[in-house]
Amino acid sequence: MRPGTGRWIVVVAGSEALFMDILKPFDDYETAALAAIASAQTAAELEQVRIEFLGQKKGRLRELQALIGQAAGEERPAVGRRFNEVRTVVTQRLQERADAVAVQEAADQERFDVTLPGTPPRLGALHPVTQTINRFRDLMGRFGFEVVEGPELEDERHNFEALNIPPDHPARDPLDNFYIATARTTSGGPVLLRSQTSTVQIRTMEKQSPPVRIVSLGRVYRPDTIDRTHSCMFHQMEGLMVDRNVTMAQLKTLLTLFARAFLGPDVKIRFRPSFFPFTEPSVEVDMKWGDSWMEIGGAGMVDPNVFRAVGYDPEEVTGFAFGLGIERFCMKHFEVDDIRRFYENDVRFLSQLQ
Ligand code: DAH
Repeated sequence: MRPGTGRWIVVVAGSEALFMDILKPFDDYETAALAAIASAQTAAELEQVRIEFLGQKKGRLRELQALIGQAAGEERPAVGRRFNEVRTVVTQRLQERADAVAVQEAADQERFDVTLPGTPPRLGALHPVTQTINRFRDLMGRFGFEVVEGPELEDERHNFEALNIPPDHPARDPLDNFYIATARTTSGGPVLLRSQTSTVQIRTMEKQSPPVRIVSLGRVYRPDTIDRTHSCMFHQMEGLMVDRNVTMAQLKTLLTLFARAFLGPDVKIRFRPSFFPFTEPSVEVDMKWGDSWMEIGGAGMVDPNVFRAVGYDPEEVTGFAFGLGIERFCMKHFEVDDIRRFYENDVRFLSQLQ
């Protein structure tokens, strides 16, 4: 230890000399700088710390640098070394802290802000055919029709006989129907996937006496050749109204109003004379599609033989019935020109039809 010009020297480990008084400002600087770095929370605060402690112009580092010049000759190398040391430590720490703050700020930006307005998650949506069925039910409900259900597996009485379709009728050809080879009714008769929802007319009238005003919507199955407008499974809406004085004019009015309510007031509907075993007279119903017409269903006045089959008196009641192809309306509504698209289940396509 050597008293000097107001300074003193500690000799450590032989020749290593520390000039405690002149080095004190370096220690203070280091302590203050590291504390400031540690407490800085943002990049902006860190920048302030950098300017204060490492700034080239009038930062505190400049003051320390001046001390090197003031040190006595033999002290100078140690002071210079200490200067470099604190500058390196402070620069390094500042950089480490800056990296940490940058990571934190990026994470903060991604954090969930509970004050933001919510975006509803995509939970999926109803299939366009289901949407159409729901609208059909709703509209027919407003016309005063009750919705009833019927089974998809049927016997020949409900799919044919009671509908006045005799055993030798071509509609009963096994090649035109999906008979279930392994199933039988309780009385031993054949079972088939229903080819039309007209089955539900019979099931309803068997259970209930007139008046009747029902619709039934569901799947039907036919081994048709599949093309743009035909599928071996599709949906129909069956309608039946029975009362004392039901007329063909009411039928035509209802179907026209229904088509307009569903497809808009400009839709064009036409009725063509036709034949169905369960109606007399019978019509086929078309709607205008571009330059041509597309069949959307059949309809007519309930044949007296159908009333007799269910125990209604054809002298007492009259009725109309109709069966509409649901997919055809759905195609027109969404402007889809190929029925197969509804069954390919390509979500990229289906999600556009909302
Ligand atoms: N069931 C017929 C079919 O699938 C459609 C039909 C025609 C239903 C006339 C009816 C009707 O109720 O009266 O082709």
